[in-house]
Amino acid sequence: MSNQHPSCRKLVLSALCCVPLIALGVLAGAGTLAQSDESSNVSKSTAARRQERGWWPTKGDPSRKEYVGAAECATCHPSQSDDFRRAAMAHAATRASDSDFLRHYDHLAFPIGPYSYRIDSSDGKNIFTISKAGASHSDVLLWAFGNGRLAQTYLYQEDGNFYEAHVSFYPALPGLDITPGHPRGQPPGLMEGAGRPVPIDEVRRCFSCHTTASTTKNQFDPQNLIAGVSCEACHGPGAAHVAAAKAGNYELAVASILNPAHLNPVQSVDFCGACHRTPQDVALDSPARIGRLNVRFAPYRLENSRCWKAGQGDARITCITCHDPHQPLVEDPAWYDSRCQQCHFAAGAKKSDDDHRTACPIGVKLCVTCHMPKFTNPGFHFAFTDHWIRIAPPGGLLPD
Ligand code: HEC
Ligand code: HEC
Ligand code: HEC
Ligand code: HEC
Ligand code: HEC
Ligand code: HEC
Ligand code: HEC
Repeated sequence: MSNQHPSCRKLVLSALCCVPLIALGVLAGAGTLAQSDESSNVSKSTAARRQERGWWPTKGDPSRKEYVGAAECATCHPSQSDDFRRAAMAHAATRASDSDFLRHYDHLAFPIGPYSYRIDSSDGKNIFTISKAGASHSDVLLWAFGNGRLAQTYLYQEDGNFYEAHVSFYPALPGLDITPGHPRGQPPGLMEGAGRPVPIDEVRRCFSCHTTASTTKNQFDPQNLIAGVSCEACHGPGAAHVAAAKAGNYELAVASILNPAHLNPVQSVDFCGACHRTPQDVALDSPARIGRLNVRFAPYRLENSRCWKAGQGDARITCITCHDPHQPLVEDPAWYDSRCQQCHFAAGAKKSDDDHRTACPIGVKLCVTCHMPKFTNPGFHFAFTDHWIRIAPPGGLLPD
């Protein structure tokens, strides 16, 4: 049970750096002074976190010129940058014309009753067409959301309003099917069947979780965003950090960027939960709370498990215990065994008398295959991993 408080080194540096920081006026964007209040060992909603001082993912108040982009970070931090390029988060949303899926599958089609849907891609244009009995309606796809294993969903604009296309690309098929959450019946007409109008507040939220710097100075400005969840989506805008590093002022450099390694375990999970949804976010959003859909909200699921509750925020069981956010997801279940065995024993293992870790009576390896089972929701073509670690009877129901 370590890491409950920010490191002493950090406190000293913060004190040292206050004066120049205020002088430079970068306090509002700086990361390290944030989230250090005593009450912060309680999980919170992301809306509440955004109200706090300092950087938090999905905040939209810094200006665009405070962001420098991942290529700049890579010049000094190659180890974090090299593998991140291959991580799903780095590609969480792009312009449709940059979608690898649409480039590769340049003609996609999907029928629903008498309607047919098509996405035709050539010369950097991605045309989405719905047609029925000779009549048709087309739009140019603008944005592609999701680049992982689940789905890619497209946004287009008409009369200034955003729409989410009724069909998405599913890599598991591979091909088109109805977008998650959309009605599965026969569409009522061409216009209504093309897509779901997305209210602007919701559009803004999509972009703030899937891209970087899409909202700046609290104005939604997708034209100038940085595609995907880039370095600064997590660490906060980096211009002040880079300027200080280049000037050789390392104390100021460190004080003007958020290093989430210094967050306590509850804050650390809430940090990832800014986009993956904290338990409070799930509780406040009643449709998300209902039933099997919440299996995708890892922070909510994890915090329901006895492993989390028994430790009351143990640093050995945060998201970054099992996931290095700078690396692609590890899909080999054996890799996770050592994480479990920090606190548990494999069946039959020898242990000393003063070792209080509980042993599994059944398994010696591949712990997650039994205790973190995978669940598919109808229509998703993808099995989510249940982060509610537990004794899960095979084929058993998913607890809410
Ligand atoms: C000109 C070089 C340079 C550039 C460009 C740069 N950094 Fe750094 N960064 C540093 C130095 C120097 C440190 C302090 C190193 C240390 O203490 O080991 C540092 C430290 C950090 C830390 C750890 C801070 C802490 O509290 O320990 C993070 C996080 C970080 N940088 C993120 C970024 C991000 C994100 C970018 C791009 C927006 C970036 N850096 C661009 C030089 C740079
Ligand atoms: C700014 C929003 C944001 C934050 C903060 C964030 N994530 Fe993500 N994360 C996403 C999005 C969006 C995706 C989906 C990417 C995709 O597949 O297109 C994702 C996907 C993932 C995946 C799945 C990758 C795969 O290959 O399927 C993992 C694992 C993950 N995130 C871990 C983390 C961890 C750990 C943290 C905290 C250190 C974190 N995320 C913080 C937005 C975020
Ligand atoms: C609160 C943050 C948040 C908002 C808002 C949000 N997403 Fe996501 N989205 C995520 C995260 C985190 C993931 C990865 C984990 C998961 O699948 O739930 C994800 C996954 C996805 C995926 C699947 C990616 C894959 O792995 O293949 C798609 C598609 C997607 N989102 C589209 C959208 C669209 C379109 C909107 C807006 C209508 C939206 N999202 C709004 C955070 C968000
Ligand atoms: C999804 C959120 C997320 C993204 C995106 C992200 N980081 Fe990080 N970064 C973290 C977390 C969490 C830590 C603390 C992790 C730890 O201690 O293992 C961290 C730590 C660091 C550190 C400090 C390492 C140390 O030894 O203290 C540096 C430097 C850094 N990141 C640079 C980058 C760069 C460069 C990028 C873009 C290529 C990037 N990060 C993208 C979440 C993120
Ligand atoms: C931070 C320490 C920690 C980590 C890491 C951890 N656990 Fe636990 N886990 C506990 C504690 C504490 C309990 C409750 C008391 C006990 O059984 O020791 C528990 C309980 C359990 C239970 C019984 C659950 C129930 O509802 O009765 C299972 C099964 C379990 N853990 C499996 C795992 C697996 C598999 C992993 C790795 C994926 C893991 N744990 C990681 C601390 C941890
Ligand atoms: C004890 C280890 C462990 C912890 C802690 C953990 N994960 Fe995972 N996570 C896994 C495993 C195992 C997978 C499945 C890997 C695979 O088979 O592809 C996974 C997969 C994921 C995925 C991909 C989608 C899915 O459902 O398979 C996302 C997103 C994710 N984790 C986010 C998180 C976030 C956010 C946290 C913190 C709340 C977290 N994880 C904590 C072990 C863990
Ligand atoms: C083949 C499936 C399987 C595998 C693999 C497996 N377990 Fe288990 N585990 C179980 C079952 C079933 C139980 C419940 C046994 C019972 O209650 O009699 C259990 C119970 C547990 C418990 C609760 C023990 C208690 O006394 O409350 C823990 C902790 C645990 N496992 C951890 C692990 C760890 C760590 C690993 C990997 C080294 C692992 N398990 C691998 C099936 C498995």
